[in-house]
Amino acid sequence: MTDISQPERAKKRVFSGIQPTGVFTLGNYLGAIRNWGPLQDEYDCIYSIVDMHALTVKRDPVKFRQQTIESYALLLSCGIDPKKSIVFIQSHNPSHAQLNWILACATQFGELTRMTQFKDKAKKHPDDINTGLFTYPVLMAADILVYNADLVPIGKDQKQHLELARNIAVRFNQRFGDTFVIPDGYFGAAGASIKSLQDPTKKMSKSDDNPNACVYILDDKDTILRKFKRAVTDSDSEIRFAEGKDGINNLMTIYSCVTGKDFSAIESEFSGCGYGEFKLAVGEAVSDYLEPVRSEFKRLMGDKAYLKECYTDGAQRAFRISNKIVTKASRKVGFVDYR
Ligand code: TYM
Repeated sequence: MTDISQPERAKKRVFSGIQPTGVFTLGNYLGAIRNWGPLQDEYDCIYSIVDMHALTVKRDPVKFRQQTIESYALLLSCGIDPKKSIVFIQSHNPSHAQLNWILACATQFGELTRMTQFKDKAKKHPDDINTGLFTYPVLMAADILVYNADLVPIGKDQKQHLELARNIAVRFNQRFGDTFVIPDGYFGAAGASIKSLQDPTKKMSKSDDNPNACVYILDDKDTILRKFKRAVTDSDSEIRFAEGKDGINNLMTIYSCVTGKDFSAIESEFSGCGYGEFKLAVGEAVSDYLEPVRSEFKRLMGDKAYLKECYTDGAQRAFRISNKIVTKASRKVGFVDYR
């Protein structure tokens, strides 16, 4: 769809976000962030540490603030360049909350009750099913629509939320006239869903109780090797991508993502090898792949002033874009213009 609000825009716009809920996982990295870097050369990219979303679960404020800064540094360590892209912290740009309200009034209660992530999280935190958790997907729609993003690079688990954002945009445009671009998802060829190392039918997630289920991108080499060594596989012994071999399929996907080799090349490379040997090779490859992230993170965390400069500048640039779109949507719904 053409961009309605900025017809002069030469490049398509990309938006994506990640929650500052701890060190990113290998799933976050291979499923999403790894794709964000290369997009910077072709598109106008806007990337955000979405701290407002993270507030839907109870957090210790001191730890939360620290995790947000660390997540920002991690994003830069993963190759997101604040000179090429707009990289900011969500709560620094008030446009998200403003558009959130307008969109909430164009979203049905029934639509939100169908969101599987809400159902999962409500089950996980029965003592705190706050309304923020329930309306989370509306804020996510606002994040995307407030920049009129064309493309949203995400992992598979966010597909339902993106679908809702599209529906809200279509409905708003039908009711008030063309306002929002209808965004498309962008999914990497491999890695759109990296599974838990302990239960390969579930996605790899920070909130997994089993410490061996999840690889964090700052894990040291020994930890990475140990986690892969303990990865759950099957009773077969062949390294082959096939139905019913969820554990091996997941390890092959990870190995493929970090080495660039396709499945048939991996099958030939490990033909005749045992699972133990393969797991070790995957662990080694992942550790080597993540080494530059670990060292860059260490360097950046030693320069907090630079980080602050980057996120302050990012928020100002983000606001300059989003404020125009909020103003446009405000006029459309009939708010009184005061400028
Ligand atoms: P979050 O913070 O849970 O995850 C960030 C990104 O990582 C992807 N991801 C995975 N991909 C593959 N395999 C996995 N195991 C895996 N785990 C996580 C997620 O799909 C996501 O792309 N609601 C979003 C954050 C958000 C957002 C947005 C994203 C808020 N507003 C607007 C895009 C656009 C979330 O909780 O992602």
